[in-house]
Amino acid sequence: MRVAMIGTGYVGLVSGACIADFGHQVTCVDKDVSKISTLIAGDIPIYEPGLSEIVQSNLRQKRLLFTTKSSEALHQADVVFIAVGTPSRRGDGHADLSYVYEAAREIAAGLTKSTVVVTKSTVPVGTGDEVERILCQLRPDLDIAVVSNPEFLREGAAIHDFKHPDRIVIGTDDEHAKKVMAEIYRPLYLNQAPIIYTRRRTAELIKYAANAFLATKISFINEIADLCERVGADVQEVARGIGVDNRIGSKFLHAGPGFGGSCFPKDLRALIKTAHDHDLPMRILEAVETVNDTRKRAMARKVSSSFAGVLRGKTVAILGLTFKPNTDDMREAPSIALITALQDMGAKVRAYDPVGMEQAKDLLPNVAFCDGPYDCVEETDVAVIVTEWEQFRALDLAKLRDLMACPVVVDLRNVYRPEDMKNAGFAYTCVGRAPTHQPVGLYIPPAPAPSLSRSEAAPVEKT
Ligand SMILES: NC(=O)c1ccc[n+]([C@@H]2O[C@H](COP(=O)([O-])OP(=O)(O)OC[C@H]3O[C@@H](n4cnc5c(N)ncnc54)[C@H](O)[C@@H]3O)[C@@H](O)[C@H]2O)c1
Repeated sequence: MRVAMIGTGYVGLVSGACIADFGHQVTCVDKDVSKISTLIAGDIPIYEPGLSEIVQSNLRQKRLLFTTKSSEALHQADVVFIAVGTPSRRGDGHADLSYVYEAAREIAAGLTKSTVVVTKSTVPVGTGDEVERILCQLRPDLDIAVVSNPEFLREGAAIHDFKHPDRIVIGTDDEHAKKVMAEIYRPLYLNQAPIIYTRRRTAELIKYAANAFLATKISFINEIADLCERVGADVQEVARGIGVDNRIGSKFLHAGPGFGGSCFPKDLRALIKTAHDHDLPMRILEAVETVNDTRKRAMARKVSSSFAGVLRGKTVAILGLTFKPNTDDMREAPSIALITALQDMGAKVRAYDPVGMEQAKDLLPNVAFCDGPYDCVEETDVAVIVTEWEQFRALDLAKLRDLMACPVVVDLRNVYRPEDMKNAGFAYTCVGRAPTHQPVGLYIPPAPAPSLSRSEAAPVEKT
């Protein structure tokens, strides 16, 4: 089949490359000239493990093309996917659908035959109706079916998720469109990925409900983590204890600095707005959003509590900037609000991220970006683990401690075991588990670990 992909961002590029890998002829379009030039040159404009190989292989086999001209992609297309962004609309939090409707008008202008138009972007209920209205009004000569096919891939594991989905949701009543969609996804269907056929509006809502539910789990466990700290319980064990229950499930029960990224925050806001438009309060989701919004600055207070609430003049090393590992996406990353709050408290901030620093530089003024984790912590008063990149899971603790001015670690992802950190001579604070120390002003050093070169020196502030 000839497939046009309108929008070549995270979703469009991964979907286009994977659909080409299924054997279809795919042309990906983007308005961003530099993005398309990069792709034509054989480079990948985003960081996504495994994506480069699949793009290269399909480019070589001439099943994948990139262009800035939508007319080239739309010529004789059997299926057209819309994969443009749907960010929060400035001012009111509704989804900004201007890119989707603009894409619909361009599709209408470029189509050369009857086709199936598929919305892969995350769009509020009823958007498919409006896309259909635009297409029918502009191209009454063609028979165009509009389908909702929301995408559930996760950045950092996008190729795996696209090729091994838990489900494929296809929202349409049109029998021909159902057959075309089944043909697109045939290799996955053969792998027994369940296809859920629904009405279009239901499919649109499934995507928002899924993201809102996952965000709810995160805010829930974060509140439980706060309670654990007050009552002397361990949130990791609580999460394990409830997660083994199949009715609950263990995923998305990791306490941390709150959710961020390009989807959860904006999709939650958009779903709440949709409900409000229908005179429905969304009390649970409003609470989920509030818990998350207040959490990021609360994490800055957690850092300052290691210094009896005073961060002025201290230097903080931030390890990890992206909203999660294995992506360079900085959209609504918790690190942004956290760093701003630390700077508001008078701290100097140094930061290191394995792949996100280029994206972060524009968003985070007055931050010193470093060459690696050890460079980042040098002569700092506290190291804060914000994103659980693999390379932060096995840091050389002795080296870390020797480099720091003051061996204080705040681990917002619970990467390390409190006992190990205590034995390594750190004042260690994490999330939902008791800290190993008093605030540094009152600090009583733990028994020194024999292997540490600075073990004789009490791990208190140098300054
Ligand atoms: N990123 C994710 O993990 C993810 C997962 C599931 C669903 N989604 C949803 O998928 C959609 C796309 O998200 P994304 O992260 O890929 O966005 P993105 O910002 O990375 O990519 C969107 C691309 O569309 C291009 N574009 C906009 N209008 C265009 C037009 N008229 N013609 C051609 N190109 C155009 C932009 O230049 C941009 O490159 C959103 O609705 C998002 O909510 C994203």
